Amino acid sequence: MTWTDEQTGATGHLVIDRLLRGAASGGLRMRPDCTVEEVADLARAMTLKESLVYRPEDHYAPFGGAKGGIDFDPADPQAPAVLERFLRAVRPMLETYWSVGEDLGTRQSDIDRAFENIGLRSCVHAALPFVADGADAGLDRISRAFSVEVDGLGLGDTVGGYGAAQSVLAVLAQHHESPFEQTAVVQGFGSMGGATARYLTRAGIRVIAIADREGVLANPAGLDVERLLAGRSTSGIMDRGTLGAGDTLLPSEEWLSVESDVLVTAAASYAVHDGNHEQVRSRYVVEAANVSVLPDAEAALAARGVIVVPDFAANFAANSWWWWTLFGDIGPEADQAFAKIEKAMHDVTGEIFDNVRATGVTPRVAGAEISRQKLALALSHQQEAASGR
Ligand SMILES: NC(=O)c1ccc[n+]([C@@H]2O[C@H](COP(=O)([O-])OP(=O)(O)OC[C@H]3O[C@@H](n4cnc5c(N)ncnc54)[C@H](O)[C@@H]3O)[C@@H](O)[C@H]2O)c1
Repeated sequence: MTWTDEQTGATGHLVIDRLLRGAASGGLRMRPDCTVEEVADLARAMTLKESLVYRPEDHYAPFGGAKGGIDFDPADPQAPAVLERFLRAVRPMLETYWSVGEDLGTRQSDIDRAFENIGLRSCVHAALPFVADGADAGLDRISRAFSVEVDGLGLGDTVGGYGAAQSVLAVLAQHHESPFEQTAVVQGFGSMGGATARYLTRAGIRVIAIADREGVLANPAGLDVERLLAGRSTSGIMDRGTLGAGDTLLPSEEWLSVESDVLVTAAASYAVHDGNHEQVRSRYVVEAANVSVLPDAEAALAARGVIVVPDFAANFAANSWWWWTLFGDIGPEADQAFAKIEKAMHDVTGEIFDNVRATGVTPRVAGAEISRQKLALALSHQQEAASGR
């Protein structure tokens, strides 16, 4: 679906890649120049992400993938009103098919406010009929989980990056490498990038550069991530007024020039492309951002031995955490969220790299195949349940 805002002329897109159990899941982003093709790419990745984490013993079973995207500047004062008008326009889809959450350029609090204003109880309204112990119990768990703070960050703003950091640790473990000897560069310092940098640091990895929309902050001895988090703006911009000893500012285009063991993309889509993949100077690229490495660039990176962990395998934690919490696989506490995410991330990464070692394909091809197998398994379990077997 494509929508045009009568008041600003902004366009918005909703793509449902597929329905599973009659519903689909995926965030809503806002950025200038967001296109329907980009939203479709993201919706496809959501389908893979939903199925990849399937465990028959969980209450949460996969939905299909969807995504929304609005071509508008999230820093514009009219952005919250544009977001609300888009959600109002697609309300029939939200009632039945599409469960949505924050994504690039949108905040969960703005999405929650818009849902309240359009008269829907929750942004996961379409999923509520599937909660076995009832919508009230599920939404109570979600609301308690969102009120949890972890060292100054909301749990909801922490789980995605915690998962991406676990993805880094899992891929290092698969290659028998200790985190204590590694350096990392993180592109993006918002919801995903901020928490990723925090948990990489806590695992012993030296975060030597972080990029935000305004440029790069680097320090070969390691950045003080907690200080940067404390001074970060609501739109994910680092405070340049209080640099630490050894910190240097570099222009935006230098984000690939800092040599590191691990590069985590946690900003915009299509960040690594034909024109810049040769500048990548890392051994591992972990896609915390969705669709951040274009296929030709990924093939070129693979040819020179760079391991790319695809988005749907590295950044599923925020999406899965919503569902594990809503459906009651975990309680609202941070320790339960972190334990479930850590296990899922290490399990999935292990499955992918077992397949990579056995077949020689890339992690993306292996992950997509495993996701398809789990989708088939989920479908067969649903059919068995429906026929009472
Ligand atoms: N937030 C989530 O729960 C979540 C979950 C899964 C995937 N993702 C993906 O992670 C990515 C980031 O999402 P987010 O929620 O953290 O967004 P956000 O809006 O909170 O933060 C985006 C960050 O990227 C920076 N940035 C934007 N353009 C940049 C550029 N050209 N160069 C360098 N930095 C730039 C911004 O300054 C900001 O620090 C997106 O691709 C999103 O789809 C997010």
